[in-house]
Order: sequence, then C-alpha cells, then structure tokens
Amino acid sequence: MEFKFSVNELFKNPIVEINHNLIPPGFSGDRRALWDSVNKVSEVINAMGEASAKAQGLSKPITTADRLRNSEHRLYILLDQQANNGKGAVTGMLKTGAKGLYVFDRDGQHYQVSPPCVLDFYVHDSRQRTGLGKQLFEHMLQKEGIEPVKMAIDRPSEKLLGFLNKHYGLHSPVKQMNNYVVYDGFFSKASDSNQHQEVERDQSPAGTRALKKDSANGLQTSSSPYGRYGAPRPPCSMGQIIHNQTSTINKQQEPSGAQIASQ
Ligand code: COA
Repeated sequence: MEFKFSVNELFKNPIVEINHNLIPPGFSGDRRALWDSVNKVSEVINAMGEASAKAQGLSKPITTADRLRNSEHRLYILLDQQANNGKGAVTGMLKTGAKGLYVFDRDGQHYQVSPPCVLDFYVHDSRQRTGLGKQLFEHMLQKEGIEPVKMAIDRPSEKLLGFLNKHYGLHSPVKQMNNYVVYDGFFSKASDSNQHQEVERDQSPAGTRALKKDSANGLQTSSSPYGRYGAPRPPCSMGQIIHNQTSTINKQQEPSGAQIASQ
C-alpha cells in the first residue's frame, strides 16, 4: 500500500512496532514534526485497518488509530522499502495484545486466562502467499518471546488457519464461543513446559478443591459450569448427620460449577 508521503522517512526499519502513543520508533524532531508523524502513522494504520477488514469481510475495521491509542495493543507494520520509487510501501500489519478470556478445552474444562492474542493480521492482497506473513509473524514471536501455540487467535480466517497449520503445524483448532481459537498445546500444564505452577486453595471450608494457576498463559482452571459438572450437588445426608446439620443445604460449602465460575 502506497502513500503520498515517504513511509521510509516515517519508519526507519523494515518492521516497526507502534503502540498507543502512535509515535514511530526512533522519532526525533520538534512538536510540529511529532504532530505530523503521528498523523501519518494514523493514516497508515487506518488505511491498513480498512483493507484488513475488507479482506476479512468485516463491516468495520477492528484496527484504527483511535482504537490503538486507547489500548495496550501492539501493532507491527511491515514495509517494502524498495517500493514506490524509493518512498517505500506498507505491505502488512499484525496486531497483538492480552485479553481476559474464558476458554474451554476439549474436555469442557474451563479456564480463566489473559493470554497474548493475535487480534488482526493482514498482508496486502497483492503480496499474499509470498512469505511476508511468516516474516512478520516470526518477528512478533521473537519480540514477544512467545510460542504460537500459547496465543489465542481472534476470529481467524480460513487463510490464517491455513497459515498457522502450514508454518507452525497447528491443526484441529479448539473453537471458542467468544470467536477465539486456541490449540491443544495452549492448555498444557506448566510442568510440561518447565514453567512455574502455583496451586491455590479455594475458600471452601474443606479447602480441598484446587485452583491451578499456570504462569505461562495465566491459566486458571475450574470445573465447567455446564453439563453434569455444573449441576448443584445434592446434600450428603451422612455428612449432615456426622456434623449435626439440618437438611438445609449450605450452598457456600458445596458450590456448583456455575458458582465456581463466577468466583
Ligand atoms: N488461501 C488459503 N490459504 C492461504 C491464503 C489463501 N488465499 N493465503 C495465505 N494462506 C496460508 C496458506 O497456508 C499459505 O501457504 P500455501 O501458499 O503453501 O498454501 C500460507 O498462508 C502462506 O504463508 P505466507 O505467505 O507467509 O502468508 P501471507 O503473507 O499470505 O499472510 C495472511 C497470511 C493470513 C496474513 C494473509 O493471507 C492475509 O492477509 N489474508 C487476508 C486477511 C486475513 O484473513 N487475516 C487473518 C484474519 S485474523
């Protein structure tokens, strides 16, 4: 994608990372130059956001300069510095950021997580399938120090699912109700990946139900609030006799899955 101005003057490297301040890395200049650069960066982001939305059949862009300004997301921009008679062209963008999500694994186990996510990804239509997507994605993985399998993907297109399969061997996505997709390795326990795992006791009197917290993705597991695991448990009459209780169920002591999920 070409612009009237020189993107090579705006962005000094073939891949640049933009955050909420919309200032191009390595910027130097006075306030007027800063204002001009931020405007140009906004123009690039809005144009690429529009093109990405169009390519994905979305009614409105999910990436805009305003949205980025009000977020903790990171936007990686890929350039072809030789294009447009030496002024350069923007060939791709990739937006990432952490999101608080509830996700289910294949067994219906439910996790509260804040994983790094792929939020938007676009390579210009004229340059797709030439390896640019891989180049941009690899750069992001290295910068963020993350494996693809530990990321959640927001509304992946068929092209992106194909991309992840081809380059990272990710297949059989676990599709979530919130339109995110994760892969089986996302749920792997900390012990599998040599990462620290904490086990927290819950607040129940017995204190026997453990909430697991995995520092890799901030994984917190708890029983599914759905299906048979979510059903309220009947009172244990033998337990009531032993503890000299009435037949009234103390729901604090025997929470259902749904109660667990809301804690
Ligand atoms: N149809 C099917 N698979 C496609 C595809 C297409 N039109 N374009 C890319 N892919 C997948 C394939 O696995 C392809 O390998 P192949 O050519 O051997 O079949 C692989 O991606 C190519 O890798 P690469 O060249 O590094 O990817 P890319 O530069 O094309 O970038 C996308 C990948 C997904 C970013 C790019 O195709 C794109 O912008 N698509 C439109 C927007 C979109 O769908 N974004 C994801 C939304 S979350």
